Amino acid sequence: MAKLSVRELDVHGKRVLLRVDFNVPVEEKDGKQVITDDTRIRESLPTINLLRERGAKLIIMAHFGRPKGKPNPKYSLRAVADYLHTIINHPVAFSHDVIGAVPEEIISHMKPGGVTLLENVRFHAEEEANDDGFSRELAKLGDIYVNDAFGAAHRAHASTAGVAKYVSQAAMGLLMEKELKYLVDELANPARPFVVILGGAKVSTKITVIKSLMEKADTLLIGGAMAYTFSKAEGIETGKSLVESDKLDLAREILDLAKQKGVKFLLPVDALITQEFKAGATTRTTSDRAIDEGWEGVDIGPKSIEIFKKEIESAGTVLWNGPVGVFEIADFAKGTRALAETIAQSKAKSIVGGGDSVTAVKQFGLADKMTFISTGGGASLELLEGRELPGVAALTSK
Ligand code: 3PG
Repeated sequence: MAKLSVRELDVHGKRVLLRVDFNVPVEEKDGKQVITDDTRIRESLPTINLLRERGAKLIIMAHFGRPKGKPNPKYSLRAVADYLHTIINHPVAFSHDVIGAVPEEIISHMKPGGVTLLENVRFHAEEEANDDGFSRELAKLGDIYVNDAFGAAHRAHASTAGVAKYVSQAAMGLLMEKELKYLVDELANPARPFVVILGGAKVSTKITVIKSLMEKADTLLIGGAMAYTFSKAEGIETGKSLVESDKLDLAREILDLAKQKGVKFLLPVDALITQEFKAGATTRTTSDRAIDEGWEGVDIGPKSIEIFKKEIESAGTVLWNGPVGVFEIADFAKGTRALAETIAQSKAKSIVGGGDSVTAVKQFGLADKMTFISTGGGASLELLEGRELPGVAALTSK
């Protein structure tokens, strides 16, 4: 059901409680936390700017890491408040308490266009428990709620779902809207052929998404270690490759399903293999799917790359979730890179959903060549599985 959008709100002079996903990667440098990828913060700016331009008093809620329900300086959002200040070129007040007198006092002095960031909501165990009392306390800080935290929308937490019950209006932000547009609307009626590339280590984590996408896709290209579970299920030698031995029946079931549905389900026909899982290790290419004893698959092989490239070149839409090899190690990144480059050059609408394939595309410097890159890992996967996200379900329906 269509949800209320931030664009439809009258926010002037009102306190808008905005949930964002500022769960960004950081590195410690000279005792300071440095943000190494600010995509999620930048992707929240359209909503932040819109609300500020329209005169809202903006109270931003976010989580950072997994502090397990207790305050922990390592997971403070303090540095993010400073960062936000720099990129919006406007002061950002920081409330070191999430609820109660401290934020209430700060908010009482806010002017239209002002911004306050609350400390990590996960410093309270009640957040992840989606506690009603905590949701009410959060709701007290605002008049209207906007959820732009797509990356956390698969979590039924107080600040992503519970709070929506206690405000007059709960709307989606512009990033949330964009994510749903590409991951739901565009894929409901994709330009064909619709080619899906699925990679990653485990078939068990992708089973629902494979089944769901089989209903829509014309072609599925399978890579990553999960391909070896399919090999094993078909009685092919896999050496010491990563295989989920307890999922062989499941793999056979998927292969049968693909046949029944008439979906092209392409597994790699060769592999790059190594005896040692490390950079600089000796590698060789197999002539077919079989992998010798003592060797393990770490990437798709050259014949597979060519077959997969052809499918991508003729696609109308490409959806990519999961790398096809261990791209983090340069020697094993060739397959993933070749596919990323082919997608970048193709005319197809390209949608990259999911953590690791996004990292790969960015690492290859090809992010701006994709039609859309999701900011959500778990959230995009759940959406592609056809599930409703609690953070979306909780919003006001139109
Ligand atoms: C993410 O980084 O995927 C989101 O921010 C959700 O974080 P979580 O997995 O700790 O809930």
